[in-house]
Amino acid sequence: MSETLQAYQELRIHNPISEDENGTWQIARHKDVLQVLKDHTGFSSDVSMVAPEDRGEPSMLFSDAPIHNRLRKLVSYAFKPGHIADQRELITDRCETLMKTMCQSTQVDLVESLAAPLPVTVIAHMLGVEDGNTQQFKLWSDTIFSNIGDILMANPSEEARLASEQMDAYFLSRIDVFRREPQNNLLSRLIETETEDGHLSDPELLSFCRLLLIAGNETTTGLITGIVRVFDEIPEAFGQLKANRDLIPTFIEETLRLHSPFSVTIRKTKKPCVIGDTEIPKGVMVIPMIACANRDETVFDDPEKFIIDRSPNPHLAFGFGAHNCLGAHLARLEGEIAIHSMLDHLEGISLANSGDFEDGELGGPSKLLVNLNPAK
Ligand code: HEM
Repeated sequence: MSETLQAYQELRIHNPISEDENGTWQIARHKDVLQVLKDHTGFSSDVSMVAPEDRGEPSMLFSDAPIHNRLRKLVSYAFKPGHIADQRELITDRCETLMKTMCQSTQVDLVESLAAPLPVTVIAHMLGVEDGNTQQFKLWSDTIFSNIGDILMANPSEEARLASEQMDAYFLSRIDVFRREPQNNLLSRLIETETEDGHLSDPELLSFCRLLLIAGNETTTGLITGIVRVFDEIPEAFGQLKANRDLIPTFIEETLRLHSPFSVTIRKTKKPCVIGDTEIPKGVMVIPMIACANRDETVFDDPEKFIIDRSPNPHLAFGFGAHNCLGAHLARLEGEIAIHSMLDHLEGISLANSGDFEDGELGGPSKLLVNLNPAK
């Protein structure tokens, strides 16, 4: 077991609610993480240290009711299961193209060849910006995602500030085009949406673009690299799925449980809150440790073991409550299609270097060399 997983176990069993030297509280057990994620009166998602007047428009991920409900309602139609299911053909086409190129070599960087471009082109298509430079989107998204803590704490790095500026300038130019010539995509639809306060402003539209581009990328890349990690660690799983593709959904849920790409999230207490018999004061940061809770021995039998048909599997990889992941259906579909494509084109896939993964990291590795065993 890695040091991180040992530390998780130690926290869950001996120190489930702990305060660190900065006054931030870590929540390790499944039931306690669930309590925090469900309780929107005690735990706020509005965690930014930047003064509201200097922050620009709020994003749904970092806001509370009623702002959060309003923002989420504006885009949730596009992420409903039926609408996402309509994207199957398009995602399959994209995945097949990437996979065919990938299979021309026997060793590739999985992130570069599949795990990053697939989600980025899918969300770019939904937004209506797929003719843009998707490698550039990915770069902006990586830079902002890896600096998210500092951005929230009002201390963005120079590169994160620059990436945000460039991304905003690009999206403003697209908003301008779609305002003049509306098209059939999510961004055009948002531009045309009439709310009780009139049309959405440019800063509001930019906030959606930023969130959707970033939230859906690193995490889905992490799911796809996590899937291949499982194939490497449990090679028989590949054969089991080839023999019975009905196992793909439970395989994906178990991958999400054991290799949760959104490993932690953050809340701020709005009032003194009691968890178990511990009182957490008002106004402090709280870290629900999603990846740690997903290995809780009081909820999951044999929690460190990958069980391909585990059911039920009440993992918290997509969060819970009002902020639960809006893109969960899309992420699952992308994972499913990526697996079908690997099973169609390969006899097996393994890591070139074990040790590329760090348990508990946000997203997944930025590079992952894999060896491919092409199907005859
Ligand atoms: C395996 C892939 C993914 C994982 C593990 C994941 C995980 C999560 C988690 C844990 C949250 C809740 C955070 C919190 O409560 O603080 C969340 C929220 C969110 N996710 Fe995902 N996500 C994934 C993919 C996606 C995709 C593909 C999209 C869209 C393109 C997306 C869009 C969002 C949005 C917009 C929110 C904010 C929802 C709200 O605040 O109401 N996610 N995600």
